[in-house]
Amino acid sequence: MTVELKQQDNVAILWINNPPVNALSHQVRMGLKLGLDFATGAGARAIVIAGQGGTFIAGADIKEFGKPPKEPMLGELIDLIEACSLPVVAAIEGNTLGGGLEVALGCHYRITSASARMGLPEVSLGILPGAGGTQRLPRLIDAAEALTIVTSGTPINAEKAMAIGLVDEIAEGDCLDAAVALANKIADQPFEDKRLSSRTLSRSADTDKLFAEAEAAIIKRARGAIAPVKAAECVKAAFELPYLEGIAKERATFMELVISDQSKALRHIFFAERAAAKPPSDVSGKPHEVNSVGIIGGGTMGGGIAMTFAEAGIPVTIIEMSEEASKRGIAVMEKNWQRSAARGRISKDDVANRMALVSGSTSYDDLKDTDLIIEAVFETMAIKKEVFAKIDAVAKPDAVLASNTSYLDINEIAASTSRPRDVLGMHYFSPANIMRLLEIVRAKETGDDTLLTALAIAKRTRKNAVVAGVCHGFIGNRMLTPYARQAGLLLLEGASPEQIDNALTKFGFAMGVFSVGDLAGLDIGYKSRRDRKLEPHEVKVSLIADRLVEAGHLGQKSGSGYYSYNKETRAKSENPEATKVINEVREELQITPRNIEDKEIIERTQYSLINEGAHILGEHIAQRASDIDVVYIHGYGYPRWRGGPMHYGDNVGLKSVAAAVTRFAEGDGALFWKPAPLLLELAENEMSFADYDRQNR
Ligand code: CAA
Repeated sequence: MTVELKQQDNVAILWINNPPVNALSHQVRMGLKLGLDFATGAGARAIVIAGQGGTFIAGADIKEFGKPPKEPMLGELIDLIEACSLPVVAAIEGNTLGGGLEVALGCHYRITSASARMGLPEVSLGILPGAGGTQRLPRLIDAAEALTIVTSGTPINAEKAMAIGLVDEIAEGDCLDAAVALANKIADQPFEDKRLSSRTLSRSADTDKLFAEAEAAIIKRARGAIAPVKAAECVKAAFELPYLEGIAKERATFMELVISDQSKALRHIFFAERAAAKPPSDVSGKPHEVNSVGIIGGGTMGGGIAMTFAEAGIPVTIIEMSEEASKRGIAVMEKNWQRSAARGRISKDDVANRMALVSGSTSYDDLKDTDLIIEAVFETMAIKKEVFAKIDAVAKPDAVLASNTSYLDINEIAASTSRPRDVLGMHYFSPANIMRLLEIVRAKETGDDTLLTALAIAKRTRKNAVVAGVCHGFIGNRMLTPYARQAGLLLLEGASPEQIDNALTKFGFAMGVFSVGDLAGLDIGYKSRRDRKLEPHEVKVSLIADRLVEAGHLGQKSGSGYYSYNKETRAKSENPEATKVINEVREELQITPRNIEDKEIIERTQYSLINEGAHILGEHIAQRASDIDVVYIHGYGYPRWRGGPMHYGDNVGLKSVAAAVTRFAEGDGALFWKPAPLLLELAENEMSFADYDRQNR
């Protein structure tokens, strides 16, 4: 039974049981409708709607989207709840999201457990609350708060919900018991005014100002995503239209959004994230418990990784070469947390609690009882091996030993230890405490239990894990090379850094490739190019970058790179020196600059990602195309609403992509483009990457 009916003290309880998250599947909607009918006819004085398993309702069943709708529709059901002749109390626990919160808004009273999370995350799926949420919420709480909840998609906690009047009570003790007690208390009271749809809203100078001011900010934050903008329009409509007309607008907008490419892309990535976090099908066994972590190296990367663990409540020891370095690393962490506290994101107690979990040491002996040790030292094989030899000498049997290398061969690192089955890669992205991506690199001999431990710890520390095989740069950085090369070539051929970056940000990227280079520091790429022998075509494509570094333009840290940066505001503008360098290099290489359209910029940069992704997939470095999408969205600022590079390729059509890649690879293009056999094969068979994933499930 997906909805059980219980009776307690003349109160009927409709108890939803649809694990894991009590999504509002057709069965649940039917169960609630029947339960409502039964309860009203069975002499109950009031009704409580509650969820089993510690969750009220986490929303509509996303798996039903795109399928023919089945009655009762959610909006209808909520109308029935609201119109019920008995007062209905929502017992809010755990995740109360989307359609779940809309059900609660249809109830006449809302009581919550202290640990519940409430929100309308629909915009993150490219839709909006389609069951009255945009119209009922502003009839209950302040307009600005309602607008934020609907357009940000970010859930709020019980305390905040109480403060803004979203709930009537925070339960002390068991939420269901408290809901029954409340139901008994209010059973005989009038509750006409608790039906939110009957409340009237009207425009005022204040609301006009609120919506006018919010619009630009919402569009800017959305970076090309349409749902938040449409959702704001619906909330605004609540102040301009009678309830039923507002509902009609909400419904029409929902129907338009649910079939949009953006919503399909966002749903794709929702399921892609969850698929990527699952153990590969050939893996069995259990993860080890991780109660302590050691990090070798307390620099930017090591410090960020350490913060991730402390933030998840896991004690972490940082090993540095000297006490000063260790103190310096920990001081940076403290400063970062204090900055978050000053901005109100965390409390002062949080800072103290996290700091209490961090310790520094200069001795590897302090890691002898540690469950997971992550090396985050300089990116050189010899140094990594030296560090792993020291870890190997002290770590307890079964400790998981991870390297945070971004490019190096984990098989070689593992083979240098006496326990290759305990070794894998855990590749974090900078800043490691903020970026959600974690590439888990499975080496040839990595044990199943070792891999499962890394996957479990990723979940515990709220990272999006993706399992990758060993190759130079794994999934993300390997794809970055051809992408950055295309940007470099476009620059040589006539586009400016601004034009290329603008085309990429218009496409939806958080930052363009040259702005990213300036932020990271152009000297980093310069040094790595000096460390290996480059082919002549590689020299050509990095000539501008090399000349900039040699002339002291290292990027933001030196005040100029591809762009000039204002010292105070950090605002960027054209760097005339860079323009001079670009022109000189073009002349030297005898390139006559041509006019390049944005379309070409997007095709060449995006298809290079797709083509390399197809190589990676064909070589089984990635398990699924959708894993590659997760990598790019969480590690490289790829627009989430486009679903990732492989999903974008499917949308364009692999036939077109393959034809363009084949054309790019003609003549001199062969130096930079090698069409991926898998891409050609899928195109030939009129298949998509999604088809490939389905076949290989
Ligand atoms: N529909 C269908 N399946 C869902 C689901 C939903 N709304 N929410 C979660 N699931 C599934 C997940 O796919 C996952 O399935 P598998 O185990 O098969 O992979 C399982 O439930 C557990 O989910 P998580 O791994 O994400 O578990 P978690 O504990 O880390 O997170 C959660 C739980 C916070 C609820 C998270 O799953 C989540 O954010 N879910 C989506 C919530 C949401 O967006 N709701 C709005 C839906 S749209 C809507 O309601 C529109 C409307 O107005 C009608």
